[in-house]
Amino acid sequence: MNKELWTGVESYIDQKLVRQDKALEQALGDSKAAGLPGIQVTPNLGKLLMLMAKMVGAKRILEVGTLGGYSTIWLARGLAKGGRLISLELEAKHVEVARKNLARAGVGEVVEIIQGAALQTLPRLSGTFDLVFIDADKENTAEYVEWSLKLSRPGTVIIVDNVVRDGDVINAGSSSPDTKGIRRLFDMLQNDSRLDMTAIQTVSSKRYDGVAFGIVR
Ligand code: SAH
Ligand code: DHB
Ligand code: MG
Repeated sequence: MNKELWTGVESYIDQKLVRQDKALEQALGDSKAAGLPGIQVTPNLGKLLMLMAKMVGAKRILEVGTLGGYSTIWLARGLAKGGRLISLELEAKHVEVARKNLARAGVGEVVEIIQGAALQTLPRLSGTFDLVFIDADKENTAEYVEWSLKLSRPGTVIIVDNVVRDGDVINAGSSSPDTKGIRRLFDMLQNDSRLDMTAIQTVSSKRYDGVAFGIVR
């Protein structure tokens, strides 16, 4: 097993099942052209996010970490009629690129991007969300889950990207701030009766990583 094979299988799944449209392709192209890092979700994970939003009939979605809006487009396309999405992003440049990508994809009207550090902007939000996708700085992931719980109801879906980090998640002595942040999240979840979570490992054209999923009890 190797990355070449995983990339081949990813392409196969994309061709057969995902078939992303021009707007998603252009969002990737323009994000790259603007110098944004290519760390967005893979197309098949993006589509899974859309399907999960549809599965729960999401009318309010919260995303932490917009980048160029690639995952945002997928999630917004999963919104129920009349639904809205709020996405939080630190970097002004990312917000600018994302707003253009979202408008071109036809979801600009249903998405609000709030610029700033999420720990500063989360306290401004109110109400409850049906689905939360956490994909920003990994150091603060546990805090983002804590905030998500405040903005949740029983049944709210919480999804956390990048919880395996090339397997470094099981390295208790890791010096990586990302790994430390993710391990803090797992430690928190281990004893947290408020959430019912699982995590899956992923191979793809990107690094070996994983995604955690669950619902608020
Ligand atoms: N969800 C995107 C990828 C997000 S990459 C997609 O799949 O398409 C992570 C993003 O989190 C980057 O754009 C980064 O600028 C942003 N970020 C980093 N620290 C942050 C913070 N403290 N608050 C909000 N966003 C942050
Ligand atoms: C990386 C991947 C991500 O999905 C992310 O949100 C941040 C960083 C990475 O591969 O470095
Ligand atoms: Mg990610």
